[in-house]
This record gives sequence, C-alpha cells and structure tokens, in this order.
Amino acid sequence: MEQKSRKPVVVSGMQPSGPLHLGNYLGALKNWIDIQNSGKHDCFFFIADYHSITENYDPKEKKEQAFELICEYLAAGLDPEKSTLFVQSRTPQCAELAWIFNTVTPISELERMTQFKDKSSKQAKNVNMGLFDYPVLQAADILLYHGSLVPVGQDQVQHVELTRDIARWFNQKYKKEYFPLSQPLLMPLAKIMSLHEPEKKMSKSAGEKHWLGIDEEPEMIKKKLSKAVTTPEGIKNLKSIYEAFSDKMGGPFDEKQMAKTKETIAHGLADYFSDFRKKKKEWKKDRSSVEKILEQGRKKTDEIADRTMAEVKQIIGLN
Ligand code: ADP
Ligand code: TRP
Repeated sequence: MEQKSRKPVVVSGMQPSGPLHLGNYLGALKNWIDIQNSGKHDCFFFIADYHSITENYDPKEKKEQAFELICEYLAAGLDPEKSTLFVQSRTPQCAELAWIFNTVTPISELERMTQFKDKSSKQAKNVNMGLFDYPVLQAADILLYHGSLVPVGQDQVQHVELTRDIARWFNQKYKKEYFPLSQPLLMPLAKIMSLHEPEKKMSKSAGEKHWLGIDEEPEMIKKKLSKAVTTPEGIKNLKSIYEAFSDKMGGPFDEKQMAKTKETIAHGLADYFSDFRKKKKEWKKDRSSVEKILEQGRKKTDEIADRTMAEVKQIIGLN
C-alpha cells in the first residue's frame, strides 16, 4: 500500500483565473520553486481548474487562463524534470475521491470555512454546491497523491487543516492509518496586502489597482506603485515587499520620501521579474512543448491516482 517514493510528497495548486500577482508569488510560487530545487521532496504542482469553475467565469476564457498559468509556473522556475506539473481536470480521480471524502466530512465543518463565507458574499447569486464543497476537493487533490506538505499562503491554511481532519476522519472510520496527516508550509511573507486597500489581502478577484501582476511591464509597475496608498498599513505592506526583494533594491526604504521609495521598489521589481517576463513570452509561443509537459504529468498522476483509488475502494468495502 505504500507509495514508491520515500521522499515527503509536496502538493499544491492554484486556480487559473488571471495572471499571478505578487501575493501568489511570495505566498506560494516562490516557495514551490525553492522546495523543488532543494531536491528533498517529491513535488506535484497543478492547475486547479475544477476549483475555478465554482466562481463566476467565462467558459471561452478558461482554457487560455490555464495555459497562461502553466506558462507562468514554467517561467518562474518550475521544472518538469524535477516536479510533476499537471492539470487537475485531466486526472479526474480527485473528484471521485472528493465524493468519498464527502461521506466522512460533517457539514458543520464546511460551514466554518472563512473562504466559503467570503466568496458567498462576493458571488451571492451563485452560491453553488461546488463552492461549499471546495475544501473537500482540495483535500482529495492532496491526499490522492499522499501529500504530507502543502505550500500555500495564509488564506489557505484553514483548508489544509481541514485536509488533515478529513484524513483523520477517514482513517478512524475505516480503522486504518492510510492517509497522511498533511501540514501547511508557509512562507514568512504569507500575506501580501492590496496596494489600494492594505487592510485586505492582495487578490486577483479585486480590481486592477489592488494587485501587481508579476508579468507587468516596468512602466505599469511604476504606475501602479505610484498610486499605492501610504497609510501606516500601506507603508508596512510596501516595506515587506521591499524586504522580500532586498537584493534587487538600489536604494533605501525611506518612509519620509515615499515617492522615491516607490520608484526604488518599482525598479527593483521590474529587474527581478525581467527574466520571468521574457521566459513567459517564450513559453506562450511554444504550445506543443507545454502540452508535452502536461501529458507527461497526466500519465504520472493518472497511475498514482488509479492506485490510490483502488486501495481506497478496497478499504471502504466497494471492491
Ligand atoms: P487570489 O486571491 O488572487 O485569487 P488564489 O486564491 O488563487 O489567489 O491563491 C493562490 C495561492 O496564492 C494560494 O496559495 C494563496 O494562499 C496564495 N495567495 C493568494 N493571495 C495571496 C496574498 N495576498 N498573499 C500571500 N499569498 C497569497
Ligand atoms: N484552493 C487553492 C487556492 O485557491 C487552490 C488549490 C486547490 C490547492 N487544490 C489545492 C492548493 C491543493 C493546495 C493544495 O489557492
């Protein structure tokens, strides 16, 4: 029943719902790349397209958003030779496992999820069952591959804790230590705030002026930063961004001269992400290589997923 790999399994994903911003990079993607490059883990990183259809979206855009996101993963440094990169919906066994997990998960636990409450108020006309069940699918994403470590930003910690509970409930119900008890892996900077309303987290779902895309051209970075609010909370947020890229900052963080400080940060960020911008454009022109990488990921995840599902069905008495 054991997985072949003896390295701890790392699993994480992001929804394809627009270009990545600094929060996604500092809270998650940068950590994924460092973990991958440490060579100490068996890494699985994916595009959470099943999750993203729980939000309001345009079906004509979804495939392109998924392609764009995988290009961003690759451009930032995820390497198909070192990590398994895949699209969630192409290994749909996760949805089957989520169904089984539904039968061990109390509704009251899902009602506690803060992301569900937030999103329900943002999309009041589309509070669908998928939105409610979202964390159970997330648990299935992780446990299908026996993931024990889950690198995410602060806002996802509650979901990873629920994943651990689901593993425990499953193991208890079926009297078998089958699923590992997963833990979140957090970056020191697990929460970057909006440039415009620094009391809220930087998020794709807010308007353009709230977030800074990591693929934005230097002029745009400068423009957006010049408009960032400089209340005490705003300054604190800009300071953490400055510190996260301190190697690239060509001047001091001077709170008394915020206009100049913002220019310093803009230059530093434009420089830090210049290679990323170039590589993203290159990957976008090379669809066939991207498809090959995803197919390689699909084959590997499909094999593991089939094995897990066969074992799970045996444990729960369906096989
Ligand atoms: P968004 O809120 O922009 O739609 P997602 O929910 O798709 O972002 O998050 C993708 C990953 O990025 C998750 O691991 C999440 O925790 C992390 N993340 C998102 N926003 C931030 C932020 N402002 N600061 C740090 N990490 C973040
Ligand atoms: N819910 C995560 C987000 O919004 C995306 C996600 C789906 C995920 N499945 C996952 C993250 C499994 C980590 C592990 O960012």
